[in-house]
Amino acid sequence: MCGIVGYVGEKKCTPILLNGLKNLEYRGYDSAGIAVLEKNSIQIRKAKGRVKNLEELMQKDLCEGTIGIAHTRWATHGKPSKENAHPHEDNSHSFALVHNGIIENYKQLRRFLKEQDYTFYSETDTEVIPNLIHYYYTKQEKTKKGFLQAVALACKKLEGSFAILVLCKDFPKTIILARRNSPLVVGKGENEYYIASDMPAILEYTRDFYFLEDNEITLLEKDSIDFFDFDLDKHKKELVHSGLNRHASSKNGYQDFMLKEIEEQPQAIFETLQKEIELPLSRKEISSFSQIYIVACGTAMHAGLVGKTCIESFCKIPTFVEIASEFRYRNPLVDSDTLCIFISQSGETADTIAALKLAKQKGAKTIAISNVMGSSLVREADMYFYTYAGPEIAVASTKAYTSQVCLLCMIAISLAKQLKTTSKNELESFKKELLQLPQEIESILDNKDSIQLLAKQLYLEKDMFFLGRGIDYATCLEASLKLKEISYIHSEAYPAGELKHGPIALIESNTAVVGILTEETLLDKTISNLQEVMARGAKIFVVTNQVLPENNFDFIFSVPKTNRFLSPILSIVPFQLFSYYIAKEKDLDIDKPRNLAKSVTVE
Ligand code: AGP
Ligand code: GLU
Repeated sequence: MCGIVGYVGEKKCTPILLNGLKNLEYRGYDSAGIAVLEKNSIQIRKAKGRVKNLEELMQKDLCEGTIGIAHTRWATHGKPSKENAHPHEDNSHSFALVHNGIIENYKQLRRFLKEQDYTFYSETDTEVIPNLIHYYYTKQEKTKKGFLQAVALACKKLEGSFAILVLCKDFPKTIILARRNSPLVVGKGENEYYIASDMPAILEYTRDFYFLEDNEITLLEKDSIDFFDFDLDKHKKELVHSGLNRHASSKNGYQDFMLKEIEEQPQAIFETLQKEIELPLSRKEISSFSQIYIVACGTAMHAGLVGKTCIESFCKIPTFVEIASEFRYRNPLVDSDTLCIFISQSGETADTIAALKLAKQKGAKTIAISNVMGSSLVREADMYFYTYAGPEIAVASTKAYTSQVCLLCMIAISLAKQLKTTSKNELESFKKELLQLPQEIESILDNKDSIQLLAKQLYLEKDMFFLGRGIDYATCLEASLKLKEISYIHSEAYPAGELKHGPIALIESNTAVVGILTEETLLDKTISNLQEVMARGAKIFVVTNQVLPENNFDFIFSVPKTNRFLSPILSIVPFQLFSYYIAKEKDLDIDKPRNLAKSVTVE
């Protein structure tokens, strides 16, 4: 789940590796480590806790080589400790390896290796890999080809997910990389290569990348790169140029990535709207879809809920939204008449990828929406579209969410055009309203001070309720998730009309209740629901784009009026800011909330 960085070239690798690890700190981790090849020995340094601890250690205990691998660990097997930190070695200290992911059959492999007299020094699943490589290496010629063969044979035995970098003391110029279900990219420089689990780690060094595929193994030296499958059949790979620049993944003067990313939304949406959405499907194929599924996790799923409303209305195709971890295990009724849309900012979420594979198996047509070029989800899907939000570093998703909603709206337009289910004029005016969004978000951001004041008033709350109907309910879910994630305040999102079927029992004097009121036709109904809780002593805070009848709500924040389907893009912004400022008041680690990881590559 966590970070990998590697370097081979002519520069001293330690500063590059440490810097790369720092660039990946946002992902959340518990320990860090480095292995550097110096002549024919492998130098390993590890530290529990922050990369800073590793850096301090390395200032006292230098590593001078120009080839090395590094890791930040998010423990899955074995507690966070120096012993469990990566890199891990084999018993003969010939190989050093870093690993992201989980080896599901590690117990069997451990048993097998113990029978061959291997000893284990950590509690990790990872430690079987260098030993397995050593086991196969002893049966090979001691050549580079033998090294490659040993890694490939070991990979074939591994079940689960892995991205690995391997050093061998017998080959002081070589790094071997391999992956399955966990991302790895290689950046090309002049006589040097940079490796990372995520592009932002190395974006300041290069913008030319190779994206590794599942079941691919790569032999890397400073001036050569060769790609193979696990049978060692060689193939070529395209070098891809990324349009992102280094500022995209730096704080650029902001205290936190989250605030930077909230404020980048006008740009993110503008960029996403610039690309034409042309579905590579004929009218006949589109007309054959009897249903659409939108499948995702967390915030991406909430984007799906908004997209559903828009797609159903414009395209008249029943559309269902599902959580990927549920969809993948319930034998869903999808077939070749189903279009499945999978949304994932990272494109690496294990459940979403598994759900996509399942839908494909069942014959559905699949579309991936991702913010990360070349991500696993994109590579698996029949078709894909990118959001152009730029790297999203804060764990709490903001700009990716609003960009995902925009992209879904554009897909709805494209489908409806082909199906002729909505008039051209209506689609054109919808498009115009989409293009207004960046400046409308700017106007909300201009009023962020009033949200900050509200946060100062409410940051000590223990519980909050978010109420809305129709499309506002989707915004309630997302607003409530943001609050939970970064401020650790418990909150519930409820369709306003459902409250009196139970949860209203929780309302007492001074309970904070937030109402989202953009659904014009449901305005009176939702206001009545808010009045019901007010009558029971609740404090009411409202975000709306409507002119409200006389009321005694405690706080009203107005957002610009836009098309019904686009209102969630505007009404979520005050809540992103609200959660941010509450977390700030509470002095919490906003970009790296406890227990969370930016991309969830395990189920
Ligand atoms: C968003 O704030 C959350 N951190 C989380 O719900 C996230 O949206 C979810 O894990 C899905 O991630 P993905 O978009 O990268 O697939
Ligand atoms: N499963 C490995 C471990 O627990 C790797 C974890 C990670 O991806 O950081 O050490």
